[in-house]
Amino acid sequence: MQQIQLTENIYYVGVNDRHTDMFENHIELPNGVSYNSYLIVDEKVALIDPVEANFLEDYLFKVKSVLKDRKVDYLIINHDEPDHSSTVAAVLREYPEVQVVGNAKTFAPLEAFYGPIENKKVIAEGETLSLGCHTLQFFMLPMVHWPESMVTYEQSSKIVFSNDAFGGFGALNGGIFDDQVNLAFYEDEMRRYYANIVGKVAMQVVKAIEKLSALEIKMIAPSHGLIWRSNLAWVLGKYTQWSKQESEEGVVVVYGSMHGNTARMAEIVARGAAEAGIKEVKVYDVAKTEVSFIMSDIWKYKGVIIGACAHYGNMFPNMTLLVHEINEFKPKDKCYATFGGMSWSGGGVKTLAKYAEEGKWNLVTESVEVKGAPIREEDWDKLYNLGKTVAVAVKG
Ligand code: FEO
Repeated sequence: MQQIQLTENIYYVGVNDRHTDMFENHIELPNGVSYNSYLIVDEKVALIDPVEANFLEDYLFKVKSVLKDRKVDYLIINHDEPDHSSTVAAVLREYPEVQVVGNAKTFAPLEAFYGPIENKKVIAEGETLSLGCHTLQFFMLPMVHWPESMVTYEQSSKIVFSNDAFGGFGALNGGIFDDQVNLAFYEDEMRRYYANIVGKVAMQVVKAIEKLSALEIKMIAPSHGLIWRSNLAWVLGKYTQWSKQESEEGVVVVYGSMHGNTARMAEIVARGAAEAGIKEVKVYDVAKTEVSFIMSDIWKYKGVIIGACAHYGNMFPNMTLLVHEINEFKPKDKCYATFGGMSWSGGGVKTLAKYAEEGKWNLVTESVEVKGAPIREEDWDKLYNLGKTVAVAVKG
């Protein structure tokens, strides 16, 4: 059987998930996701981060196809979240003598999820564990993306098993390594993962990158997405850019519209931004595009223009999740503006103003609220100029 090898004795035993509709039950997965796991075969055998429970049979088949009759000695838990850990109990049943390796914060949540673990080994920052020719070393990466998160560095191969850090959405379509695929697709899916999973803790990600930069790294093997061996500088650059929130020139126009009037306003706003020289103008209907895709572009681009029609004195309901996520993840280095239709009550623009105040949005121009449709020249001009003003601010 053809095995997937990172080195002569380090194997990829992860699985692809093309079934799940929503990651964490709220983020769309049109391209699937992979749950990566790694096996190091030496005098001792270490299994690094298991996978999601629905893929147990395929997973154990892969592990056994490498090991044959050998047993797993150590199960390394870099992260407790169930997309990785929900096969822990099954692995322990399969290999009852395995020692589970984690840090001081690993075991309380793990045992809360899966019950008592008898045979455990608690390691500290920088501690090593010899497997024979291979030596594992552990580094804490708190909040990337849970408090107990850590990475495992294998000293002889200089591979860092980085867990969620450097992970991305998108199942692995035959290509497992970064030099076997078209990177543009995985860049988008990696940024969408970043903006919706670890973007909230961007400062911890910066610290994590600084900590890892002290190591000599030949390969980054995350728990989701591609294994990086040929484009390390590129992926480190992208991750640093997203973590430091260095926005690119572009404007996201996102609207919520019941009868198409606020949608018509969005078209005028977008035209104003484009005429002012912005080539990357992304227009989204918040009722059609799932929030994680919009958040990904908001993370990427500097201009963010949000429009919402009124709904019972409040705003278009589907917009609530997006603005909640913006205020939760707090993307920085942005130029905001808002607009919307009044209908008979008003409320869309007023509600956006509350979120803007709460989230301390950098509003670069006054809001535009239009009665009915944008059919009066005065309203058309205001909307066009709103797009133009944001564009000018974006261009700096
Ligand atoms: Fe992939 Fe935070 O789990």
